Amino acid sequence: MKLWGGRFQKETDGLVNDFNSSIQFDQRLYREDIQGSMAHAAMLGQCGIISQEDAAAIQAGLEGILADIEAGKVEFTADNEDIHMNVEALLTQRIGDAGKRLHTARSRNDQVAVDLRLYLRREIGEIIQAILDFQQALAEKAKAHQKTVMPGYTHLQRAQPISFAQHLLAYCQMLARDVTRLEDCGRRMNQCPLGSGALAGTTYPIDRWQTAKALGFDAPMSNSLDGVSDRDYALELLSALSILMTHLSRLAEETILWCSWEFKFIELDDAYSTGSSIMPQKKNPDVAELVRGKTGRVYGDLMGLLTAMKGLALAYNKDMQEDKEPVFDAIDTVKMCLPVFTGMIETMRVLPENMRAAAGRGFINATDCADYLTKKGMPFRDAYTAVGKLVYYCTEHHKVLEELSLEELQTVSPLFEEDVYDALNLENCMEQRRSYGGPAVAETTRQIQEIESFIQEHKE
Ligand code: ARG
Repeated sequence: MKLWGGRFQKETDGLVNDFNSSIQFDQRLYREDIQGSMAHAAMLGQCGIISQEDAAAIQAGLEGILADIEAGKVEFTADNEDIHMNVEALLTQRIGDAGKRLHTARSRNDQVAVDLRLYLRREIGEIIQAILDFQQALAEKAKAHQKTVMPGYTHLQRAQPISFAQHLLAYCQMLARDVTRLEDCGRRMNQCPLGSGALAGTTYPIDRWQTAKALGFDAPMSNSLDGVSDRDYALELLSALSILMTHLSRLAEETILWCSWEFKFIELDDAYSTGSSIMPQKKNPDVAELVRGKTGRVYGDLMGLLTAMKGLALAYNKDMQEDKEPVFDAIDTVKMCLPVFTGMIETMRVLPENMRAAAGRGFINATDCADYLTKKGMPFRDAYTAVGKLVYYCTEHHKVLEELSLEELQTVSPLFEEDVYDALNLENCMEQRRSYGGPAVAETTRQIQEIESFIQEHKE
């Protein structure tokens, strides 16, 4: 008979049994479920709601179940619907009546909410550590390429000179925000729903502060209805993971471009590339493509849960059982993407000469040319127009700015002098961009130090 079978005259339909049960996926919450039950039982004992002997028997029984699950000795069953009822049924099988007292002053509604929060809190910690490793890999590559000039792009058109370090360090910043976003989400999540009961709290003299503290929460949730209805924490996490994946996906896209023959800025390591079954020459960036592809999947997880939640009257509705698979899927996906992407970055070969060659075409020093005239007294807008004319002249004559003679340059302004060639030199153009946050070596050094202390502060 079902745990809740008292009121029923008939067995559950077989299909319904499978349809209704969540044990296939919520068994991964077994540790948190047991942890929550232990805190609950200890509190019931201390508040005199159950005897200390029963509390102790429950404690010992749960420890045994935990050990057996971890040893692979426990078979869960869909007949017991979910992880909560599976554990409770096992406990009662093992310790008898004391097991039947565990669910006093509790509901699966607050139980599942506490389990999921505990689980996500731990996963957030692990994901943050994986992000830090990724940042470290980017910072290492950046250190090696502070002087590697590459074209910076807007509209995927060559725009102005930057260094490869500057480009990678931009991602370090995005990832630092991902870390703090996850921390923030973890902080807000860290309130305890246990004791909300089914929805309306309980008549027993429970101590919610005790269980909250025992489980490492900052406080019990303030409203029992909210305690069991809220899934903001899962949505926030999915949003934070979606944004993280956006960042990974943008770098994945760039990696794919960079290792194409059209760019050839980098060469991926063989261990991080795949071949074609028909084209012998192929070396494909499948890892980056999969990261980009899996981003859509994480967005789907977020959209799925947002949609599931949007029409639910308070408090618990079974729809909310649909919260687990998307969060698990998003977490699994992110946890796979991060380390494999880290390895791909660590092992990729950077080809500075190709970056430099690309930087040499596309007039990425045109702004510098206009700035040269401006610094000699011409209003910037006039300088802009003059250089625009030079660029047009160059395209007609298949030249770049630094290939023009002084006479050619002077056709648009007499202010051009011999020192213009220094001003147009790409290495100088990059190095002169010393404004805070710019690509000059001093600035990328500052950024690297900043990101390394961020990593230090957060590393466990
Ligand atoms: N398996 C359920 C879930 O994941 C647990 C809560 C069930 N509560 C209920 N009243 N049916 O949402």
